[in-house]
Amino acid sequence: MKYNISVVPKLFCKEPGLSLKMLHGFIKLGCAKLKPKTNYGHDHFKNLGLVYFKLTPLCNLRCKMCGQYGDKGVMKEKGLAAEAAKTILPLERYKEIVDELAPHTPVSYIWGGEPFLYPSLMPLAKYMVDKGMYFSVNTNGILIEQYAEQIVRDKWSTIFVSLDAFRDVNDTIRGQGSYDKVVKGFAALNREKKKQNSNYPMLSIVTTVTNMNYQYLKEFVMATKEFNLDFHIFNMGTYTNDTIVAAQKKLMLEKLDTNIDCLEGYNTGYNNNIDGKKLFDILQAIHNSDFGRYPPPPLESVRITVPALNPEKINTYYSDLETPVRKNCIVPWCQANINYNGDIHFCADYPDYILGNLKTNTFKEIYNGDRANRFRKLLSESENGMFPGCLRCYQNMLFGSKIKGF
Ligand SMILES: C[S@@+](CC[C@H](N)C(=O)[O-])C[C@H]1O[C@@H](n2cnc3c(N)ncnc32)[C@H](O)[C@@H]1O
Ligand code: SF4
Repeated sequence: MKYNISVVPKLFCKEPGLSLKMLHGFIKLGCAKLKPKTNYGHDHFKNLGLVYFKLTPLCNLRCKMCGQYGDKGVMKEKGLAAEAAKTILPLERYKEIVDELAPHTPVSYIWGGEPFLYPSLMPLAKYMVDKGMYFSVNTNGILIEQYAEQIVRDKWSTIFVSLDAFRDVNDTIRGQGSYDKVVKGFAALNREKKKQNSNYPMLSIVTTVTNMNYQYLKEFVMATKEFNLDFHIFNMGTYTNDTIVAAQKKLMLEKLDTNIDCLEGYNTGYNNNIDGKKLFDILQAIHNSDFGRYPPPPLESVRITVPALNPEKINTYYSDLETPVRKNCIVPWCQANINYNGDIHFCADYPDYILGNLKTNTFKEIYNGDRANRFRKLLSESENGMFPGCLRCYQNMLFGSKIKGF
């Protein structure tokens, strides 16, 4: 059993500078859970530990469980994403935002849609790295191969590639041919790392656990040996049900005058009927596995399950959706998501409640503004420091009071 912070020593062995940047972000996130939940009249901006950049609403895949493009995805209607993409922030505005954030927030997490469809991803990445930010990207990996040389040269910090199982099962979930494209992407990155004699970027897979893949995870881990991974993240999935969606809709309308759509995107049923005890056994085998090598190599990939739950709670996670496994969400006190159009939200997956827009205001003005504080106040006064819709939210689960997991 490990603490999720165990990525830091692993990183330290490879790249001390990178690990210190990550540690700085972790410490800020850790402090956010200890601090009193002050709302108005406080400079929350200086506590930012992690900023999500959702660069584009466009995507080149249609993964079944995805809250944006899956069966219930809010962006799946034809033409919607293309229309939304007309409002994306230009590179020049991102550079100004990075100038404001970089001195405070070394950890960034780039996502989308598919971030490689943002037209200025490569120059933006270089700018962020040069400004000293921890630059991590979550991608479906389809376009990595063609950019591998530049990614290594520009020293991206970490690439998290989404892959959900070995070829057949993965492709049923994420689309035909997607597994092989990712394999080619990893091969190209490993080739370039060797050629350029570089440890950058750290390589990771993110596997979203659903009832379509959980039984096959162990075999999948064996199949990833050739990728030279630094991390493998198992994401237990954001999900919800009709009752919770209704309760959250009512609350957001009554208390924050906001009509919400996004939570419904995660009401797909793909987390139903997962046998939590069986998944526990599978995860335990994965976390204990040394691929048959004894003693395990010191730089073996670090496997992490998110949320970092005490293992006995895994069954509760799937069998009893209405029982919290985490309390007191800390996100509004240390994190934020910048949407493709410049809107800032606390909740990356649920961009309904808008704090403000970066086309007209600075990050700091918005993060310390009235709309942000109104949300913080309501959340901190809610039962368990959470709203109903937070019960199985990935972002809420990343860090929290029980960080000891697999
Ligand atoms: C929305 S995607 C965006 C980035 C990129 N398109 C990708 O797939 O990596 C971010 C991550 O969320 C994961 N994801 C998709 N559906 C999810 C769900 N219902 N719960 C939690 N994570 C999910 C994806 O597999 C991916 O790892
Ligand atoms: S690639 Fe990412 S954004 Fe696109 S459908 Fe799949 S999970 Fe969603």
